[in-house]
Amino acid sequence: MVLNNTYIPIESLTVNGSVPQSSNKLYIETYGCQMNFADTEIVNGIMAKNGFDTACKLEDSAVILLNTCSIRENAELKIYQRLSELKAYKKKNPGLIIGIIGCMAERLKRDMLNKTNAVDLILGPDEYRKLPSLIDNLVDTGEKGIAIRLSRVETYDDIMPVRKEGISAWLSVMRGCDKFCTFCVVPYTRGRERSRTLEGVVAEVRQLWTDGFKEVTLLGQNVNSYRSGDDDFSDLLNECTKAVPEMRIKFTTSHPQDLSIKLIETIANHDNLSNYIHLPIQSGSNRILNLMGRSYTVEHYMSIIDNIKKLIPDVTISTDIIAGFCTETDDDHMLTLDIMKKVQYDGAYMFKYSPREKTKAWNMKDDVDEEIKAKRLMEIIELQNNISLGKNNAMIGNVYEIIIEGRSKKSEEMLTGRTDGNKSVIIPKNGYNRGEKVKVRILKANSATLFGEAVGN
Ligand code: SAH
Ligand code: SF4
Ligand code: F3S
Repeated sequence: MVLNNTYIPIESLTVNGSVPQSSNKLYIETYGCQMNFADTEIVNGIMAKNGFDTACKLEDSAVILLNTCSIRENAELKIYQRLSELKAYKKKNPGLIIGIIGCMAERLKRDMLNKTNAVDLILGPDEYRKLPSLIDNLVDTGEKGIAIRLSRVETYDDIMPVRKEGISAWLSVMRGCDKFCTFCVVPYTRGRERSRTLEGVVAEVRQLWTDGFKEVTLLGQNVNSYRSGDDDFSDLLNECTKAVPEMRIKFTTSHPQDLSIKLIETIANHDNLSNYIHLPIQSGSNRILNLMGRSYTVEHYMSIIDNIKKLIPDVTISTDIIAGFCTETDDDHMLTLDIMKKVQYDGAYMFKYSPREKTKAWNMKDDVDEEIKAKRLMEIIELQNNISLGKNNAMIGNVYEIIIEGRSKKSEEMLTGRTDGNKSVIIPKNGYNRGEKVKVRILKANSATLFGEAVGN
């Protein structure tokens, strides 16, 4: 899942020489997946401990970091674009420190420094503890800082992330990925899989509840590989549900290879475990799945889906799909559309294949024409919109519990919240507040949003 944020245009806030030099004001702009957003909170935790003010606006900050994503070429192009804006800003504010952290720092390493002289710091995802000392050194000596080693043990288990207040928190329970899907850069940018301790995660979840959070999403590229001693991911979920029985607990992402019956049963047996499962399929063709190194077949995937639907009757399921992977034919594409119809996903994240250097697929031929990729992607998106609309329409008239997240984007008079199945619902304000659990009847729907009325707490 990749998050979309809106960022302030730099031109609108450039004031010559206004940035305080070598002050402790820090601003991090985050791109990419939830894990990156969770990492930004970890970096803020490290920096706050070292005397930095992490609650600053970009225009007040002396240190600006971009926490970056490499998943597709477009993700990196967006960051180069932002970097060229920051370069112009820095020309007018020479004391400014600019750092690239996260996956792109890890992937491109020193090249990132060579690409533009605006960058002062490069830090990979396992090196964030070094940030304060690298900044000190930069301020003292003018020496640019680079730290890009991947670790087999770093989990930042002892770092308390600095989160924005809210009702929903991200919490990484593991880092890295060992799956090496042939299209994917993550194992190279994030390194090997390693898990936080069960005790550490449970303690943090408890703290989140004390701090007023009502929902937590446990994160990992492949959460089902979680291990802490003899405990697996189901055991972790069980302990979390016991520790905070009223907190809504979600998790992402599951890999079909490791999603066990035990995990499905655990979700079915706990009211406070969200009945929402994100289970990326990527393609509906066994030939393509094999080329992708996904280690399951469509038949195996469908057997998991059948078990999920049997054991969790009101489950919602979402997926990731790649259009136009190497050698994909029209027939393969039709198989993808077929599986989407069979599963009836509630939602999907859909992408055109983008070749990434170093991955196995980099050496395969990216032989599907750009127009064909685009056409297939459009067909996938259209089909999914129809399916989502059908699923949402089927909810009309029913009552669901939502947790109110805040004001709706479109109107002061409306609130937005989410169901246990991760669907957004808009309701009239009527005196309800953020964080409250409210029962709502669904009155109307489109493919992305439900509209309802409160029928009580
Ligand atoms: N760990 C998760 C996914 C992480 S990346 C999992 O295994 O499901 C999120 C999604 O980005 C992937 O599921 C995939 O659909 C997409 N993606 C990854 N690499 C890609 C590439 N090179 N081109 C296009 N999409 C890609
Ligand atoms: Fe990438 Fe595959 Fe790992 Fe997901 S499981 S992060 S797609 S290598
Ligand atoms: Fe996430 Fe992008 Fe890195 S999807 S793990 S930030 S490459």
